[in-house]
Parts: sequence; C-alpha cells; structure tokens
Amino acid sequence: MMSGSDKRISDSIEQSLNQQMMNEAFQAQAYLALASWAEVNNFAGLADFFYKHSEEERTHMFKFLEYINARGGEARITGIPAPLDNPASVEECIERAWQHELDNSKKIYALVDQAMAEKDWATFNFMQWFVKEQIEEEALIDGLRDKYALASKDKDSNANLYSFDRDLVGASQEGDLPRDASLEE
Ligand code: FEO
Repeated sequence: MMSGSDKRISDSIEQSLNQQMMNEAFQAQAYLALASWAEVNNFAGLADFFYKHSEEERTHMFKFLEYINARGGEARITGIPAPLDNPASVEECIERAWQHELDNSKKIYALVDQAMAEKDWATFNFMQWFVKEQIEEEALIDGLRDKYALASKDKDSNANLYSFDRDLVGASQEGDLPRDASLEE
C-alpha cells in the first residue's frame, strides 16, 4: 500500500473517479440485463450485441480502477444499483441503451470539468480517452436506433425485425464515425 505522500490525485478527484468506476460497473450490469432479456425473448442478435457491450463496459470499469491505483489512490469497489425492470419491447430496450450512453457522457464531461478546475492534467488527459469513447458509443447505439427504425417502419415488420436481429450477430462494437471525430488511427 502506498503512503499518503505518494498519492498524486486529490481526495475529491479520487472520489469522483471511484464514482465513475462504479457507474461503468452499473453500465455493464444494465447491458447484461438487456442482453439476457433479448436472449429470453429470442432476439439472439441483440443479445449477442449487448453481451459484448456489457464486457466492454467492464473494461471501462477496469481502466478507472487501474488509473486510481496507479496514481496512488485507492479504488473502492462498492455495491451498484439494480438495473431497471425488463423493457416492454425491442424499441424500449434500444432506447434504454441510448439513455445509458447519454447519461454516461454527461458524467464523463463532469469529471473532465472537475479535472480542469483542479488543474489535474494527468486526470484530464486520462479522461480524454473516455471523451472519445463516448463519441463512439453514442454513434454505435444511435446506429442501432437507426437500423431498428428502418426495420420497424415497413408493413412487413416481423420479417424486417428478424433480419435486423440476425444482422447483429457478431456485429462490430465500433461505432461509425465521421473521420475527423476519431483522434486515433
Ligand atoms: Fe462506458 Fe458505454 O460507457
């Protein structure tokens, strides 16, 4: 364990990073619930997509954990709130995911604001990965909303919904981005 003098983040930043670590754990749990709901309701593609996304959220949680500990702070694993009850439809399921991402982006931006206000440039820099990630995640889920909207607007919507779901099996977790919105190659 590191002594207090080795700690290179403020108590308030440490607390906010810990909170966001648990927010990411909650995201993983929420996506897991949506994935299982989709599986039980025979939407195998949507289930596959959300199971993978749940794993991705877990890697986000780990990034916070590693960063907090690497800066001489202490990652504190706490309980997380239960996910919402089952959605009533595929549309609601996808809209839930969309809302999760919008909420998470706001939380990420609040942490960026705090790092800037405290002139904690290491944390500010660390958070830029998440700013970029949220651009991708919003694009990913928004793309899912678009596909669903297309599939559900025709008369033959059951067949379309079937192909919508089948298309998601093994679909990439990378959102489609305009080139200049992506900072990395
Ligand atoms: Fe880790 Fe989907 O935000």
